[in-house]
Amino acid sequence: MRNSRYKKLNKMFIDRWSPRAFKHSSIALNDIETLFEAARWSPSCLNEQPWRFIYADKKDRLEQFQSILVEANKVWAKHAPLLVVVFAKKNYKNNGKPNRWSEFDTGAACMALALQANHMGLSCHIMGGFDERKAYEVTAVPPDDYKALCVMAIGEKGDPDSLPAQLKEREAPSQRIPLTEIANEG
Ligand SMILES: Cc1cc2nc3c(=O)[nH]c(=O)nc-3n(C[C@H](O)[C@H](O)[C@H](O)COP(=O)(O)O)c2cc1C
Repeated sequence: MRNSRYKKLNKMFIDRWSPRAFKHSSIALNDIETLFEAARWSPSCLNEQPWRFIYADKKDRLEQFQSILVEANKVWAKHAPLLVVVFAKKNYKNNGKPNRWSEFDTGAACMALALQANHMGLSCHIMGGFDERKAYEVTAVPPDDYKALCVMAIGEKGDPDSLPAQLKEREAPSQRIPLTEIANEG
């Protein structure tokens, strides 16, 4: 186990990692909704809940969503049974002013979703490598009101042998910079 010095650390944090090999087995609708339900309980500035998720789990829609990915992501993410485009609502609903925290809040919601996925035996791989303009097109989400942040590939982990050699090598949990580099007293 990684970070074994910290006995009270919840295993869910170190058990989560972002695979590229996915099984194509479809995900039941209730399980898909359970992922979004986990995200729904995330904290947000003024409880604005600015996260929005548009998903594809059917062949035609999946193909459309795959088409917005950069080639380096398309090559593996095309096997994932669920793709989710994540948006953050730009302005507060009450006064229409820019919500400076909406992307921060949406990131937190994505982590909740990723951890819930792991809890259910699924994995989630977040991608920033996508064409933002195409993301608005395929989802019909208006770019004036929402910022397209990332695409998530979700599914059961697959066989690393299904990946091109270069990616197969990377199919494992990754390292982290030391704790002393990210958290210091005073
Ligand atoms: C905002 C964001 C964008 C990312 N973009 C990509 C991407 O385009 N392609 C990719 O393969 N991984 C992408 N990743 C995954 C990261 O490379 C990965 O989370 C990081 O290397 C740590 O590995 P782990 O998630 O397995 O612990 C992205 C992650 C985040 C949070």
